[in-house]
Amino acid sequence: MTAAKFEVLEEKIAKAKEGGGLKRIEDQHKKGKLTARERIQLLLDEGSFEETGMFVTHRSTDFGMQKDVYLGDGVITGYGTVNGRMVYVYSQDFTVFGGSLSETHAAKIVRIMDMAMKNGVPIVGLNDSGGARIQEGVVSLGGYADIFYRNTQASGVVPQISAIMGPCAGGAVYSPAITDFVLMVENSSYMFVTGPNVVKTVTHEEVSFEELGGAITHATKSGVTHFTSHNEADCIQKIKSILSYLPQNCEDTAPVYAYTSEDELRPKLNSIIPENPNKPYDMKEVITGLVDEGSFLEVHEQFAENMVVGFARLGGRSIGIVANQPAVLAGVLDIKASSKGARFVRTCDSFNVPLLVLEDVPGFMPGTDQEWNGIISNGAKLLYAFCEATVPRVTVITRKAYGGAYDVMNSKHIGADMNYAWPAAEIAVMGAKGAAEIIFRKEISAAADKEQKLEEKVAEYSEKFANPYGAAAHGYIDEVIRPEETRKKLIRAFSLLENKVDKRPRKKHGNIPL
Ligand code: HXC
Repeated sequence: MTAAKFEVLEEKIAKAKEGGGLKRIEDQHKKGKLTARERIQLLLDEGSFEETGMFVTHRSTDFGMQKDVYLGDGVITGYGTVNGRMVYVYSQDFTVFGGSLSETHAAKIVRIMDMAMKNGVPIVGLNDSGGARIQEGVVSLGGYADIFYRNTQASGVVPQISAIMGPCAGGAVYSPAITDFVLMVENSSYMFVTGPNVVKTVTHEEVSFEELGGAITHATKSGVTHFTSHNEADCIQKIKSILSYLPQNCEDTAPVYAYTSEDELRPKLNSIIPENPNKPYDMKEVITGLVDEGSFLEVHEQFAENMVVGFARLGGRSIGIVANQPAVLAGVLDIKASSKGARFVRTCDSFNVPLLVLEDVPGFMPGTDQEWNGIISNGAKLLYAFCEATVPRVTVITRKAYGGAYDVMNSKHIGADMNYAWPAAEIAVMGAKGAAEIIFRKEISAAADKEQKLEEKVAEYSEKFANPYGAAAHGYIDEVIRPEETRKKLIRAFSLLENKVDKRPRKKHGNIPL
């Protein structure tokens, strides 16, 4: 082959790597953003990236588009490894028509999604796009729909992770929304269905981009994003971390990290629960006290903080944790906490990550706001998610397990494999005071000293139910354990359950109350 042919190839590669040109790359850097290629470089192991579709160009000729042709058409696609494990990746290039999605740009993404599904490999999308390529009209809308369709087909087959690193507006938001995890970068990314200008026209509200759809908004108010980062490097680090807890696909199991068994007693756990059962404590202290050091990765940290969910490792193995948080709203189950928990349970179940539930819940949140906004159907989501989960499931009741929440939080009745309680556990239909006021109402109102009678009856009810032994007597609790031995018990329990097989009745699919 002549040297000239190689030169043409080299020239084309260099041109493709320039994206929309050096000036636009500079602009991207000035905004504090990385380029699409720099992001891929940070994500993948050095030298592992294999690019596909580098010379793809758009087909549009309307509005003078034939003059502006960029190799790659605004998205870099391919595959490579993250810590030695394969991922497919696409990274939108804002320097080319604002990263907007054309027919061919979409086709490149669709191709790697198809490849990822066939080969059982996770998909990572790095999004930075002005949305549908305006010059192309309906073919770009069709391109989005092609992607949404594949996101849905891939759901539960391979992990899908979406990082938002710039604009993501209009219908474009629905691709990340279908994926398993959304990450956003503070002050440089936003997601909304309609932007501030449309909002102003329609509802007369004045709202900034950041307030309407920035990272903090979606982390705290809507729950659309699972993670936020101060910068892109941290965001990419989080993607790698998420992947480390997950298998490559639904037929696989998560990687196991080397772990040498040692003295697994954790005496610090004995002193976390306060003497006074109405005093809060931080469930995250229990979590970090239980799991392998430094292994807890909280998901949805700033959303519905009365429920804590996240990944961790126990003896080197991945687990998913769903825990009530007594330090926030006494750990009550409300609408947001229920749907947050349900989503995480289903994510873990999809990808064979065993579930650990840490329970301290006074019940469901009362009130018109909750009832009118659907605490019934939202609470049912969490119940349904646990009932249908077939992964190993272990519960530890650290303190309260009251009412319907006892049933919902992975009770034995709905399929938990092992249920433990700490000695401070209270397992009852409701709190002692409320219960006494109802069942002893007549006796209390007939008493000369009503206050004293109520106190007496509260004590009587507490004596009977404010402990784990009634439930243990029925076999609903397998063992009452000292907090310090919980880690040891859990490592053994999950190891026992490692080869669990649990089949559900044949059906097309269930109908979770959405
Ligand atoms: C074509 C686009 C584009 C788009 C941006 N560009 N968005 N080209 N189609 N959708 C181009 C700009 O013309 C510009 O080209 C370059 O990208 C950079 O854009 P700027 O506006 O200079 O950047 P910035 O100031 O950072 O603003 C970014 C932006 C803005 C906020 C994203 O560009 C914008 O509002 N774009 C339009 C967004 C939009 O309405 N998209 C359609 C949404 S509807 P030059 O040559 O000047 O550098 C949609 C439907 C999807 O997406 C439906 C799926 C079901």
